[in-house]
Amino acid sequence: MAAAGPTEVVVVGSCMTDLVSLTTRLPKAGETIHGHKFFVGFGGKGANQCIQAARLGAKTLMICKVGKDSFGNDYIENFKRNGISTEFVGQTEDAATGTASIIVNSEVKTLFNPAPAHAELDPQFYTHADIFCCNESEAEILTGIPVGSPEDAGKVGLVLLERGCKLVIVTLGAEGCVMISVDEPIPKHVPAGKVRAVDTTGAGDSFVGALAFFMACYPNLSMEEVIRRSNFIASVSVQASGTQSSYPYRKGLPQDLF
Ligand SMILES: Nc1ncnc2c1ncn2[C@@H]1O[C@H](COP(=O)(O)OP(=O)(O)OP(=O)(O)O)[C@@H](O)[C@H]1O
Ligand SMILES: *[C@@H]1O[C@H](CO)[C@@H](O)[C@H](O)[C@H]1NC(C)=O
Ligand SMILES: *[C@@H]1O[C@H](CO)[C@@H](O)[C@H](O)[C@H]1NC(C)=O
Repeated sequence: MAAAGPTEVVVVGSCMTDLVSLTTRLPKAGETIHGHKFFVGFGGKGANQCIQAARLGAKTLMICKVGKDSFGNDYIENFKRNGISTEFVGQTEDAATGTASIIVNSEVKTLFNPAPAHAELDPQFYTHADIFCCNESEAEILTGIPVGSPEDAGKVGLVLLERGCKLVIVTLGAEGCVMISVDEPIPKHVPAGKVRAVDTTGAGDSFVGALAFFMACYPNLSMEEVIRRSNFIASVSVQASGTQSSYPYRKGLPQDLF
């Protein structure tokens, strides 16, 4: 399913294996309880975003490190199954750490997702990223402004523009997102469609992955249209359970998105 031609989306970020146990309740310290289901899932914010961009048809390359163990081997196979180049997936004895992810397309546009967020983020991240995309809680950690509405997100956007961001996107779950840019410093709310959400885990990474895909593969679309389409992709992902398992493929989506 790999697209032909040069790499369009490069993701630098985390790659984690999820070990998921389903139980009726949490065990107390030292207690052994019965579970009714166990599964191993592929996760990590960087890898999730890369998988979503690849499934939409972008030619993608992942830069990360996994352990020299069966989980690491399995993850590399998962990348390959999704048509992602693993040339720069290293294997090490050390644990992988996921602190931030940067996505670069062929025009060297950079999209920065400050996850997990720290209040003392290196200020260069604000000035160097072309697009700075965060969710409500990351926005609050970075600016101290609690975000509960599109109006609040607009205030966050203005603060981040003052810190040197060129274009800020604050995602708002079912509310979609708010964008603001140096060129148009008036906050613009781009709502998501109304859907029946089953599991919103990983919606943010689906959104960021879709954003990278549309920016790389449809450079002529306006940012508002890129966001509208990315909202749609992420809103599809919340209608199925799991993280990567809920990410749609291009062939299952309305073709007018492409
Ligand atoms: N209930 C929903 N209905 C429709 N779209 C949704 C819903 N929840 C999330 N989305 C879509 O997903 C995008 C990202 O959601 P959100 O802001 O919750 O990210 P997030 O907090 O980083 O997600 P998570 O941490 O769960 O991966 C939203 O901008 C929207 O497009
Ligand atoms: C925002 O993303 C972080 C990951 O950085 C996650 O822990 C947090 O729950 C998300 N916030 C919301 C409101 O979904
Ligand atoms: C984008 O627009 C430019 C200038 O209008 C045009 O030359 C180019 O072919 C367009 N690219 C795509 C992918 O549509």
